[in-house]
Amino acid sequence: MKFKAPFITFEGGEGSGKSTQIQLLQTFLNQKGKDVLLTKEPGGTPLGVHLRHILVEGSTDKMDAKTEALLFFADRRAHLQNKIWPALKSGQWVLSDRYADSTMAYQYYAYNRRLFKTDIERLYRFVAGNFEPDLTLILDIEPSIGLKRSFAKAEQMEIKETRFENHVLEWHQKLREGYIKIAQNNPKRCVLLNANQTVEDLASDIQKVVLERLL
Ligand code: TYD
Repeated sequence: MKFKAPFITFEGGEGSGKSTQIQLLQTFLNQKGKDVLLTKEPGGTPLGVHLRHILVEGSTDKMDAKTEALLFFADRRAHLQNKIWPALKSGQWVLSDRYADSTMAYQYYAYNRRLFKTDIERLYRFVAGNFEPDLTLILDIEPSIGLKRSFAKAEQMEIKETRFENHVLEWHQKLREGYIKIAQNNPKRCVLLNANQTVEDLASDIQKVVLERLL
């Protein structure tokens, strides 16, 4: 599939600052005259909103690993079909807060490989074919710092979406190492960025990467 505009994904552990940075990149691209669609997973479509409630609320062990992976991929399929692909076809840049690397990092690496990597890859091909992001920005942060930010935000905004945050620190450490491996395994597509710096400095790193690679 060839599209008229790029697809950029934002990835990272809890509290890595994705949602702030994705908005700043949108503003930057708008200033360059680009039409930009901001979206997220899970929950980028009306169907996905239902799936999101099931996936991010409640107890960490409320479903088994395969059920969880299938629900994330169901969300992804609806997202591609109903939102991402139509936008790219119309020439809009699409920025997504999380995409398929989240499944590899969370459901595979962080959960200590309780699914086969090849099964996750096969499910990906099933829902997306050969389609891949043009660029993936992985915001890397030490989990103890990220979790502090994330819980503070959840409390302040009275958000119940802490199903994944509730894992122990070791689990988040594996998640972080997983993202680092994903970046190493996909050097053309992924860029690992230090998220433990000021919002402005990280935004400027992101803009540099986008300028070099896509503008
Ligand atoms: P998100 O809204 O990005 O949460 P946060 O702002 O806390 O980073 O994502 C919701 C949660 O879903 C997050 O804890 C990561 C998890 N997730 C997976 O486990 N697998 C996936 O494939 C996706 C897309 C998200």
